[in-house]
Amino acid sequence: MTMLSRKPLSVLMSEASEEGENSLKRSLGALNLTLLGIGAIIGAGIFVLTGQAAAMYAGPAIVFSFVIAGFGCLFAGLCYAEFASMIPIAGSAYTYGYATLGEFWAWIIGWDLILEYLFAASTVSVGWSGYFVALMHEIGFDIPASVASAPLKWVEASKSFEASGSIVNLPAMFLVAALTLLLVVGIKESATFNNIAVFIKVGIVIAVIAFGFQYVNTANWHPFIPPQGPEGFGHFGWTGIVRGSAVVFFAYIGFDAVSTAAQEAKNPRRDLPIGILASLAICTVLYMLMALVMTGLTHYTDLNVPHPVFVAIDAAGPALKWLTYFINIGAIAGLSSVVLVMLLGQPRIFYAMSRDGLLPPVFGRVHHKYRTPWLATIITGTVAMVVGGLFPIDVLGELVSIGTLLAFVIVCAGVWVMRVRSPDIPRAFKTPLVPLVPILGILICLFMMAFLPLATWLRLGIWMAIGLGIYFMYGRHHSKLANQTAAQRE
Ligand code: ALA
Repeated sequence: MTMLSRKPLSVLMSEASEEGENSLKRSLGALNLTLLGIGAIIGAGIFVLTGQAAAMYAGPAIVFSFVIAGFGCLFAGLCYAEFASMIPIAGSAYTYGYATLGEFWAWIIGWDLILEYLFAASTVSVGWSGYFVALMHEIGFDIPASVASAPLKWVEASKSFEASGSIVNLPAMFLVAALTLLLVVGIKESATFNNIAVFIKVGIVIAVIAFGFQYVNTANWHPFIPPQGPEGFGHFGWTGIVRGSAVVFFAYIGFDAVSTAAQEAKNPRRDLPIGILASLAICTVLYMLMALVMTGLTHYTDLNVPHPVFVAIDAAGPALKWLTYFINIGAIAGLSSVVLVMLLGQPRIFYAMSRDGLLPPVFGRVHHKYRTPWLATIITGTVAMVVGGLFPIDVLGELVSIGTLLAFVIVCAGVWVMRVRSPDIPRAFKTPLVPLVPILGILICLFMMAFLPLATWLRLGIWMAIGLGIYFMYGRHHSKLANQTAAQRE
């Protein structure tokens, strides 16, 4: 029965307010948290995937795909906000799961969140490597493809990974290593780096929208929803819009990372909901405008490239040539801050899991001087580096999306369960219209999951099976809650 025991909220609260050598440093306000959210959100999704999704699935109607994915995220975001204001602890959805659904489910979510955070860091580092190589090329320094791309590629026909001819993706590994060091040194330093990166990338996104709109050729928007193509289901028409939403969902991932900084927030109950919802709202508006501009500047069929924003602005002609130079810089800054926030979130989830005894104590060690979970940060960085150095972006990206969608489904369900079980617990922020909002969140997320390929579902299954093995071999026997319960019984 201990597998389903829930962690009492009173215990969670007292842990959150504990001060001591293994406590984190509270230095983030509402603005920093919002910027942290934007730092995690705007990245490879808008800079790489939007163009590809428009070209292959939705055409200019990719803006509707953003609306569908945006609603799924809004409903999940409202649920995250309630939890974050109620249980402001570093573990995010893992901790919410422990309080509502019990230890077994908490482990499942914690293990699943590795797909979201650690693997997203690897995924985006691969996207970053692409833009970095392009920038280096522009300034006359060519990095050979053999050391800047994945040695493994997925071959659908044989359903297996095969050698691509490359050796390793060195720039991706370099980025993860550098950001890991920064994160070890301090949360404040990392937040400052993030703020600068966010400033640059949001500035460039706004410039693309503001200047790009002036050169839109409205003929490119006709037909706005291209008719379904010969490939059939999922290729243009309404089904293409939904398929596109499962792809651009990746662009929204990250707003929930705000909740992993709960124990470093000065006023978490008020500021976490602000950080989550404000970053999501700002990015949704920017994404929709950006999608309109990109498909208005050039025909959507031209956007199936690794640098679609560049291609769109380039199509505006000589008048916007100056802007193209800044786009690579914006993407490099933008993508590095996504990797940073993902590498920041993962060790804080490990930290929470280790304090509960589900992971070994090394994951819960806080550096005496920097007050960061430094060992967990280095372990996360090392694994993310290896994964980013070896695997291609498409395989990683879909795995991240399915893992995140699953976490969103569980969080939406958790809010509803908690309202029924413990209606009287104070909540600084309340999700409106419960259970409608959680139900809609669950349905939209499941709907998007259904549009991801079977191979991705299989990988999710394998990942979860490994997680279960570890839980039964380690976590179950070391769980503090289970041991306490057993001691009380004796
Ligand atoms: N939303 C993040 C990105 O698009 C993960 O890079």
